[in-house]
Amino acid sequence: MGNRRFPADFIWGAATSSYQIEGAAADDGKGEGIWDRFSHTAGRVRNGDTGDVACDHYHRYKEDVSLMADIGLDAYRFSVSWPRVIPAGTGPINEPGLDFYDRLVDELLARGIQPYVTLYHWDLPQALEDDGGWPVRATAEAFPLYASTVADRLGDRVTHFATFNEPHVVSDHGYRVGSHAPGRVEHDAALAAAHHLLVAHGLGLQAIKAAVPGASCGIVLNLEPRHPATHHTLDIEAAGIAHAQVNRWFLDPVTGRGYPEDGARAWNWHRQEILKGDMDLIAAPIDFVGVNYYSRKFVRSPLLPPVEPQQPEPERTAMGWEVFPAGLTEVLEFTASRTGELPIYVTENGAAYPADAGDPTRDPERVGFFHRHLDAAHVAIERGVPLRGYFAWSLLDNFEWAHGYSPRFGLIHVDYDTFERRVRDSARFLAAVARDGLPPIASVDDESVLKTSALAPPGEVASEVSKNDPSPSL
Ligand code: FCB
Repeated sequence: MGNRRFPADFIWGAATSSYQIEGAAADDGKGEGIWDRFSHTAGRVRNGDTGDVACDHYHRYKEDVSLMADIGLDAYRFSVSWPRVIPAGTGPINEPGLDFYDRLVDELLARGIQPYVTLYHWDLPQALEDDGGWPVRATAEAFPLYASTVADRLGDRVTHFATFNEPHVVSDHGYRVGSHAPGRVEHDAALAAAHHLLVAHGLGLQAIKAAVPGASCGIVLNLEPRHPATHHTLDIEAAGIAHAQVNRWFLDPVTGRGYPEDGARAWNWHRQEILKGDMDLIAAPIDFVGVNYYSRKFVRSPLLPPVEPQQPEPERTAMGWEVFPAGLTEVLEFTASRTGELPIYVTENGAAYPADAGDPTRDPERVGFFHRHLDAAHVAIERGVPLRGYFAWSLLDNFEWAHGYSPRFGLIHVDYDTFERRVRDSARFLAAVARDGLPPIASVDDESVLKTSALAPPGEVASEVSKNDPSPSL
């Protein structure tokens, strides 16, 4: 079997987000964001790491864009920092902050790289959090001014805008679990936040479309299969409910299906935040949907005794996340079941592994991860999913939220003492796939793809895939 080709116009990209890479936390009039506050609060982030300097991308963006060109990216997905552009969330615009994104976009276009802009990747202006944050509607009402400010400024050169990155993680980790900024543990407030994020998405869409009539606008959702821990009916039922509470919670209303009933019952949500017209606003037509995929979770019914961990222990990344490529096909097909012909992008997919102590450019596990997930993406395309592009997470090693700098997700290694960047094998692997197609998994000869001893022996890779297959569907 030869290499399998992705469509000729398939977009190959990499993704980052503002707080995770920019640094320059107080430069040029930037306001305080909730991640500035959170990371400076003792005990919130591993090792006390903060995004104060991060990858220093704010000052090194030219070098970074040049590296993107070297590794042959068609597109770059980045986010804009709201507190950099409107320091207090509402009110005066900070022109120097906006100028940074202007320069970045120009640099990208000069190198032939298409910018894909995400407006909100988790750095809410602290002033808005002080007034209540996402659980209050005023935060959603502040969003369109920010959205139109960015769209007005960049819309002559940027065509792809996403409103939000992973609203589930924002409401759930930020307001229910408290492991992310602002670190609140308030069940009802988290549900209110989730609704207001979707309202803000709807308002943001209107604002972008008004500023840039030809823009292609969407939203980025993290989708993670929920699989029953056993074949017991109660587990199957529990997995279905968990799927509704997490995955359908956002995709269903955005596609005009409303909030899932079973999910709302399980969350014990009475919909008091829904105002007249909200559901239409949330369901306004989008032009694409972005899917972030990393792993799956097993669900055990609370009515049943705990189960033994999976045997044999599944392969995991440095985050402890199970490597489960078939889940990517599954979430893409699930998305298409809701969005039909709408273009879909994988807006994030990737893995953390410890840097090779001898040579940090060698990352065979990450190459294997990409290889198997691209295979899963290709299967989705063969089954008719309108998948238009794939963005690896992440361009650079960066600040991995509450985990700080220890997990490394980059196609490019970053030395946090010298800020030196070094391109990893996985970046070259992706470039080779974009150019020559995807080598077969079972007979892969990664020596020839990479000119390195990258992957595990073919047999091992194939059995890892089949071990996880077939998967119960969502
Ligand atoms: C996603 C986030 C991204 C990064 C990856 C590992 O949930 O969108 O910022 O942290 O996980």
